[in-house]
Amino acid sequence: MLKVSVKKIAGYLRWGVAGSFIVAAWGLGLTGVSNASGTYSAGQTATAEAAAYREECGACHVAYPSGLLPAASWTTIMTTLDEHFGENAEMTAESAAMISAYLTDNAGKAGRGVLKRIKGDAHLRITELPYFVRKHDEVPGRMVSGNKEVGSFSNCNACHQRAERGDFDEDSVRIPGYGRWDD
Ligand code: HEC
Ligand code: HEC
Repeated sequence: MLKVSVKKIAGYLRWGVAGSFIVAAWGLGLTGVSNASGTYSAGQTATAEAAAYREECGACHVAYPSGLLPAASWTTIMTTLDEHFGENAEMTAESAAMISAYLTDNAGKAGRGVLKRIKGDAHLRITELPYFVRKHDEVPGRMVSGNKEVGSFSNCNACHQRAERGDFDEDSVRIPGYGRWDD
């Protein structure tokens, strides 16, 4: 088992007060900055963890923003990868350990911010949580399930053109077949 005792890398992937996304650190390697306060065994760095997350968990869908689920959810997801939404998403124990550390360190805080009404139970879907539902309630079904190029809300990057970079700002939304989002 990989032992990672990193002081909370909170602040990164933190959702802004006004509810707008400030997905810093993502892909910028900034997670390495706080290494001074944390110890990693086997030379692991937070940056390597973030990279493992993006690579392994970005293979079938975009690597979802860690701050949109509480730690309990990520832990459940990481311990049930053999039955992952109908797919087998198992990986090496080493990758899984790194990714679990990354996700729990960067998880959202149940009861606060975008997870305000979440009690910390292990919800598995971001797309079913109140914050997500509220942000998307003006997007009609014909643009999502009725749209061959989208299919479901889980397919973030179909509409959020900069999702790979962790940018979910509504200004960079372009819905296939419908164009830019103007509300
Ligand atoms: C083998 C393909 C595959 C891999 C690898 C994979 N996933 Fe998934 N994941 C899926 C599928 C399929 C869904 C369901 C998508 C849907 O409903 O449209 C899903 C859904 C999810 C959801 C719920 C999204 C929502 O609807 O809110 C989360 C969270 C998630 N995955 C996290 C992860 C994490 C973390 C990893 C890496 C440890 C990972 N996934 C790796 C296939 C994969
Ligand atoms: C069908 C297209 C579509 C998909 C798929 C989609 N979104 Fe969105 N999203 C939108 C639109 C449109 C808005 C702006 C809604 C508004 O402001 O009325 C939005 C807004 C947001 C916002 C708020 C941004 C802001 O500036 O306040 C977040 C966060 C977000 N989406 C995250 C996600 C995540 C994470 C996923 C995948 C799990 C996802 N979205 C999937 C279309 C989509």
